[in-house]
Amino acid sequence: MELEPSQPTSARWLDSLPEQARRHLPPAVWAYVHAGAREGTSTAEATAAWRDVRFRTRVLRDGGEPDLGTRILGHGFTSPLGVAPTAMQPVVHAQGERGMARGAEAAGCLHVVSSNAGTPFADLGARHWWLQAYLPPDREDFLPVAVAAAAAGATALVLTVDTPYPGTKYAADEADWTGIDLSWWRVNYPRRDPEGALWKAVTADDVGWLGESTGLPVVVKGVLRGDDALRAVEAGAAAVYVSNHGGRQLDRSVSTARALPEVIEAVGDRTEVYVDGGVRSGLDALAALALGARAVFLGRPALQALAVDGARGVERLLSELSAELADALALAGCRRPEEAPDLLPAAGTAGR
Ligand code: FNR
Repeated sequence: MELEPSQPTSARWLDSLPEQARRHLPPAVWAYVHAGAREGTSTAEATAAWRDVRFRTRVLRDGGEPDLGTRILGHGFTSPLGVAPTAMQPVVHAQGERGMARGAEAAGCLHVVSSNAGTPFADLGARHWWLQAYLPPDREDFLPVAVAAAAAGATALVLTVDTPYPGTKYAADEADWTGIDLSWWRVNYPRRDPEGALWKAVTADDVGWLGESTGLPVVVKGVLRGDDALRAVEAGAAAVYVSNHGGRQLDRSVSTARALPEVIEAVGDRTEVYVDGGVRSGLDALAALALGARAVFLGRPALQALAVDGARGVERLLSELSAELADALALAGCRRPEEAPDLLPAAGTAGR
């Protein structure tokens, strides 16, 4: 029997996740989770861009069992995989952010809670987490939110800088939201008026101000260029997070796999660099590590796993992807994630 070499095995639970999640979710919520901005070009090409990376595997060494243990902003995790911030968790599964937190912590992974979370921070029940920040037009309005998050265990702020306002998502914008309870929206903000809530672009000054006013490290999320990464670092960022928001802001923005090398080149060893966007396998994660990321985050797959099986689904997702990453590292002749950058073809040689 001839096997189609490019087909993943159909037995992989991860491959069935999107379809399973679609069956669990109201159509409007599925459309929102799945959507990319406009024509969906950036969303569609994100995973393919990771698949373009090729590895120079190492041989003639016995590294022993792979160990994915990673330090992210000084804190130890069992894996460099983490959960990206996403809104909508309470409508995706009744456990909402609590389930996401429990699943991520059970897998030993970092998770980032959205500013638009539907669970009061004090009820998260999480030990170690980061809060994503959308700054309101009056920046001071964010400070009580940060204080409440820190009191509930948040150890860093992930400042999203690519969202002066939400990008147009045709399918989600046109969907029928009747009967979907959104009363939890922005439950952690003292003022919950959603109108105009996001409408003032973040500047480099906001980065420094946020760090100084809260005393928390600030990770700048949504960077796609080396010069912006440097400006973030010079403004006081503790780390840079390469993201095009899952292709949900500017459609046709560059894929994160293509943007990451430029950012790594610009910041060098000055800060850690993280990435998200289209990561769907351990091989995609290995590509991100090889290109220099310290941590690799998952958006839609985590929401889909939450939809399908709450905290257990999230734990399974992160554990299966971590196992795939460990397998990929071992076959590449590496033991630890920090060895992965050595796997890239030398500059100037063909990548494949
Ligand atoms: C997001 N994302 C996001 N980002 C952010 O900074 N704050 C937020 O509240 C949200 N909300 C959100 C909701 C949904 C439904 C999605 C799909 C995404 C973007 C997210 O953090 C991440 O950048 C992308 O999802 C990563 O791409 P993948 O893994 O979904 O391909």
